[in-house]
Amino acid sequence: MQWKVQLFQLNYDQREYDAVEETLRSGWITMGPKTQGFESAYAAELGEGSMCLAVANGTAALHMAVLAAGAGPGDEVIVPSLTFIADLNSVRVSGADAVLADVTSITDWSMDPADIEAKITPRTKAVMIVHYAGYACDMDPILELCRRHNVALIEDCAHANGGTYKGRKLGTFGEISAWSFFSNKNLAIGEGGMVAVRDRDLYQKCKNLRSHGMTVASFDRIQGRAANYDVIEPGFNYRIDEIRASLGLVQLSKLQEANAARVRAVAHYFERLDGVNDLVIPYRGFDRGIPTYHIMPILLPEHVDRARIMEAMKEDGIQTSIHYPAIQSFSAYKGKVGPTPISEYISEHELTLPLYPTITMEQIDLVCDSLVRHLA
Ligand SMILES: Cc1ncc(COP(=O)(O)O)c(C=O)c1O
Repeated sequence: MQWKVQLFQLNYDQREYDAVEETLRSGWITMGPKTQGFESAYAAELGEGSMCLAVANGTAALHMAVLAAGAGPGDEVIVPSLTFIADLNSVRVSGADAVLADVTSITDWSMDPADIEAKITPRTKAVMIVHYAGYACDMDPILELCRRHNVALIEDCAHANGGTYKGRKLGTFGEISAWSFFSNKNLAIGEGGMVAVRDRDLYQKCKNLRSHGMTVASFDRIQGRAANYDVIEPGFNYRIDEIRASLGLVQLSKLQEANAARVRAVAHYFERLDGVNDLVIPYRGFDRGIPTYHIMPILLPEHVDRARIMEAMKEDGIQTSIHYPAIQSFSAYKGKVGPTPISEYISEHELTLPLYPTITMEQIDLVCDSLVRHLA
């Protein structure tokens, strides 16, 4: 399919190609100095005493977060209803029950602190939140209720690379935070993720989970540091590699500029779409912090047939998507999780328009012209 405007495009240039080549030529491609460099640079960006561990992908990061929070069989974890399925899956594969909390309203698609609190029971071990599209959740009440009920907070920051809440970086509020660096993310390396914590014990726990609970890594052995290792607890192979860590370092250095380009693109979308045909654009007038504009979601009017609009836009060469189908619609979860009426409504009517740092204003005009024409 030859798109005129793709949903997403990589923001890569010679810097990424050079970084990969340098790593390949170094002769060391599994976790080593590039990974350490990426983790330190990421931790420095976050501040607040963050300690970071780069991992294989965002789902691995979430799985580690759930386990490190101590959630398992018999426990409940409250999860967002409007999110990628990895949030729920990471809880379920850990043996805990996932309890959905709804979003706040038809214009604020972040988890509703009041609904989170309503879902807390004596079995609740943790609350997992997602900063949808890179718009910060309402952190003050969420932090307050987590403290009051003594439950851990896990931040899914997959959309939130570089975002803030009241001036503080997203991913520094929870006990454990998880990022995805999947191809379509603001920081993209193909597959990859990051875990951030601010507590030494949690850091060690996550480190054990990342690499089979082994006390020594291959890189230490080649450095001649230690030939033998112990296994201090069961764990996985959730390691990243040097090739992707070197991509991560370059992408991190470009993140601020790339996010600024998204700001300009989204401003143009707002200019074109404000007041059009009963469209709802979520988060207009957002004032909780600086969003990362990971995606460009809109809510179509109730009477509009979304499938028809998506097909018509496809014929115009414009790729669209849905973020996200209702969790209640998936076979694995149908009838097994509670209703979340607001997010279920959003799931039925949401449409995601193309957005990436190098999108041009002309391309945005093509998208908006096509959308408006087919809405009429
Ligand atoms: C909100 C959210 N959480 C978690 C993930 C999982 O990340 P990954 O695909 O890197 O495993 C994604 C990625 O698509 C996501 O968008």
